[in-house]
Parts: sequence; C-alpha cells; structure tokens
Amino acid sequence: MPVALRTPRLILREWRDDDAEPFAAMSADPEVMRHLPPLVDPDEIDAWIARGHQHWHEHGFGPWIVELPGEARFIGMIGLNRIRWTLPFTPAVEAAWRLARPYWRKGYAVEAARAAIDDGFGRLGLDEIVAYTVPANRASWQVMERLGMIRDPAEDFDHPSRPEGHPQRRHVLYRIRRSAR
Ligand SMILES: CC(C)(COP(=O)(O)OP(=O)(O)OC[C@H]1O[C@@H](n2cnc3c(N)ncnc32)[C@H](O)[C@@H]1OP(=O)(O)O)[C@@H](O)C(=O)NCCC(=O)NCCS
Repeated sequence: MPVALRTPRLILREWRDDDAEPFAAMSADPEVMRHLPPLVDPDEIDAWIARGHQHWHEHGFGPWIVELPGEARFIGMIGLNRIRWTLPFTPAVEAAWRLARPYWRKGYAVEAARAAIDDGFGRLGLDEIVAYTVPANRASWQVMERLGMIRDPAEDFDHPSRPEGHPQRRHVLYRIRRSAR
C-alpha cells in the first residue's frame, strides 16, 4: 500500500488522527456542503471517517488527505471509492473530491484527482473510473471535464440517498477509461 502520492504542488497521504479537526471544520462550512448531504453530527463524522479507514483496509485504496507542503497540512480529501450504492452503472469505482474553501480555484482538485486516478489505472489496474454530481455543482463537473472524463446525458440518474422530489436527486455521470489516459 503506498504511503503517499506526490504531485508538483501537493502530497496525498494517509489519514492521521490530527486530521479530524480540520476535517470537521471543512464539513461545517455550508459552502463546502452546499451540494452534499449534511455532515455535522459528531457521530456521523466519526462514522464517515471510519468508513474511509475500512475502505482502505478492504480494498487497498480510498480517500487521501491532501496536504499543501509548507502551507497547510490538510486542505481536503480526494480519492477513489468503490460505490456502495446500487446504481445503473455499478459495480464501479468513483473519484471524489472535497477541499476546504481557502484552497478552491487554484487547480488543486484537478492536480490531486489526476494523481489518484493515475494510481487507480496504474497500481490498482482499474479499467474505468466514474464520477458523479448534481448538475448545479458546476465546480465539480468542471473538474471532471478538466480530467478528460466524458458525460453521456442518457446516463443521468436519480441518487437513492435523496428522496423523490429532492432538488439534489438528479445526478450527472462522467466516465474515464484507462485507455483514454
Ligand atoms: C469541487 C471542488 C473540489 C473543486 O475544487 P477546485 O480546487 O476549486 O477545482 P480546480 O481549481 O482544480 O478547478 C477545476 C476547474 O473547475 C473550474 N471551477 C472551479 N470552481 C468553479 C466554480 N465554482 N464555477 C465554475 N468553474 C469552477 C476551474 O476554473 C477549473 O476549470 P479551468 O481549468 O477550465 O479553469 C471544490 O469546489 C469543492 O471542494 N467543493 C465542495 C465539495 C464538493 O462539492 N465536492 C464534490 C462533490 S460531487
């Protein structure tokens, strides 16, 4: 299991106990969570973190902590997850990203996601990686496009974690195949 991935500006590393505080602060920012299910209850936060550890343990990959050397030891989380929902395109591995607000729009999400995806196609030997978000989350699907991921609107889908009629139920799906890298 790799201890870390390096990009020109960033380090993607394993979780440390002192990440809990900046992770909770990021999760408490309504702008970060605007398009995501709320994550405020300390028990839910603990469960979320435990799920990440469990994922690493079971699959040998999962969410990375993103560090900006010399500036910030935690700027967010980016990595690959085996999707735990049953959806029209599962089983599948998704790329996911979440950064603290001071670090938005500097190209960090694309830079870190590229490293995580390269690790997925290289070390993990995956054939395909997907990503999804709500149409209103322009920042997120811009990351997908910048990564060279492709959307087929015919694959838009309703996410079962949101009830019928919920404004965040509809999602767009993007894919990238190893052969496209
Ligand atoms: C999604 C997120 C990780 C993007 O991070 P980021 O570091 O700002 O992204 P980047 O700087 O790498 O930008 C990638 C592209 O998206 C564009 N972009 C970023 N934010 C944007 C926004 N709010 N509106 C429009 N375009 C945006 C950038 O301009 C860039 O495109 P370009 O290369 O053509 O200039 C960040 O906004 C975030 O953490 N949001 C909250 C959590 C979240 O919603 N995660 C996704 C869940 S599906």
